[in-house]
Amino acid sequence: MLLEIDDISVYYGKIAALKGISVDVAEGEIVALIGANGAGKTTTLKTVSGLRAVTKGAIRLRGQDITRVPGHKRVALGLCQAPEGRGVFPGLTVLENLYMGAYIRKDELKADIDRVFTLFPRLAERKDQAGGTLSGGEQQMLAIGRALMAQPKVLLLDEPSMGLAPKVIQLIFQIIKEINEQGVTVLLVEQNASQALALADRAYVLETGRVVRSATGRELLHDPSVRAAYLGGDVSA
Ligand SMILES: Nc1ncnc2c1ncn2[C@@H]1O[C@H](COP(=O)(O)OP(=O)(O)OP(=O)(O)O)[C@@H](O)[C@H]1O
Ligand SMILES: [Mg+2]
Repeated sequence: MLLEIDDISVYYGKIAALKGISVDVAEGEIVALIGANGAGKTTTLKTVSGLRAVTKGAIRLRGQDITRVPGHKRVALGLCQAPEGRGVFPGLTVLENLYMGAYIRKDELKADIDRVFTLFPRLAERKDQAGGTLSGGEQQMLAIGRALMAQPKVLLLDEPSMGLAPKVIQLIFQIIKEINEQGVTVLLVEQNASQALALADRAYVLETGRVVRSATGRELLHDPSVRAAYLGGDVSA
């Protein structure tokens, strides 16, 4: 297994945000986490990227226990998160933001800049524009592009579709698929459950800090109880 989240519990003060969550991500997969507000999706990703400590359980990358490894070292091991709320540096240009994503690297970056600009031509056109002046969708593209500059094996995405127009959401999901086809494994958190399940090989449903279901994306997409709870009962997706 490439990434194993093994029975982790995470507390904010005395309150348990995660109560023993286990998620497996195999090499090459797209795995989605879905669930209501406050279910623990963001906390799970933050714990995987090293921004939150666990009180119980373990996280393993290619069998190596990384539970106590600091976040920046996890980036070097191949885990990289595009943060919720995007986190673009507003005063830096698009190009400078991309270089920031590669701060751990000392090798030639041109090929990866080109790759990001090929995935996101919109960013190429705006390479000298300040990050803070990009539209919401463009900032999301930049956040994903910047994460790719670290050459991740596993890309962690927290709500990449948040606040975007339907057409831009489609584009972002299409690009996540392309990135995956280029060999990057993806762990994705989404409110937009129907599109996430359509894209994901497998998915986990979180409820108040626990995994309550896991199955293939397709199976969950057509599951009546999942549809009623997370897809607004809409069967047309
Ligand atoms: N810094 C914090 N301090 C205290 N409680 C927190 C903190 N961050 C998250 N929580 C709590 O932990 C629980 C899980 O939050 P989390 O952000 O992981 O949920 P989520 O599934 O990502 O929700 P959403 O869909 O709204 O983004 C929530 O009850 C939340 O209030
Ligand atoms: Mg969240």
